[in-house]
Amino acid sequence: MKIIIASSEEIAKSASRQYVELLKEKPNAVLGFATGSTPLPLYAELVSLCKEGKLSFKDVTTFNLDEYVGLEPTHDQSYRYFMNTNLFDLVDVDKSRTHVPSGIDTSDEALAQYDKDIALAGGLDMQLLGIGCNGHIGFNEPGTPLESLTHVVELTQNTREVNSRLFNDIGEVPTHAATMGIKTVMNARKIILIATGASKAQAMFDTIKGPVSSACPASVLQLHPDVTVYMDKDAAALL
Ligand code: PGA
Repeated sequence: MKIIIASSEEIAKSASRQYVELLKEKPNAVLGFATGSTPLPLYAELVSLCKEGKLSFKDVTTFNLDEYVGLEPTHDQSYRYFMNTNLFDLVDVDKSRTHVPSGIDTSDEALAQYDKDIALAGGLDMQLLGIGCNGHIGFNEPGTPLESLTHVVELTQNTREVNSRLFNDIGEVPTHAATMGIKTVMNARKIILIATGASKAQAMFDTIKGPVSSACPASVLQLHPDVTVYMDKDAAALL
């Protein structure tokens, strides 16, 4: 694991350089994207670079980590809506090549097809991850088998509480989500994990210093050959 401790602004700049480098080498790369508050500064940086002509998403294919079960893509808390408004509508990506798991069709066939589509596209070249306070990656909550592929998970009460800040009240937060599995993520050739804020400090300690265990799903990244972890000082406080 390559570990970089920097300010949120520096993280956005450094991580964006990884996109510039990858897309220079492979303009049609397959990119795995994440939602949540953490990647927003990076997405703003990617949008700026695209506007300045320093980066183009014209030929990329994208796959997002997860989606709430029950939310239509047009729902303003759906992750499809998040990606459209924070990145896809603001860059030159071909929207028909952007994929987010369906929160509506969560049949076994649809979930298995998500992994097949990633494989058909050539596999993920670079997967971006945030991390939950409980160590989840995507919505792979503690206890998720490390061998899992795309599946539906029941969200923990803690995750629903943390995410309720974006809904009118916790009753509106979906109870389930469709998520790439831990193995889906681990199959990516390169992984970027970004963690900011004190609420992520314990999860980052467990991820980097703890045993590899499904109790902290992100700890599995210790076994991946090409992970760059970006943390601000608060997220790195216990290391
Ligand atoms: P956050 O979410 O970026 O909003 O903190 C990250 C996550 O839960 O994976």
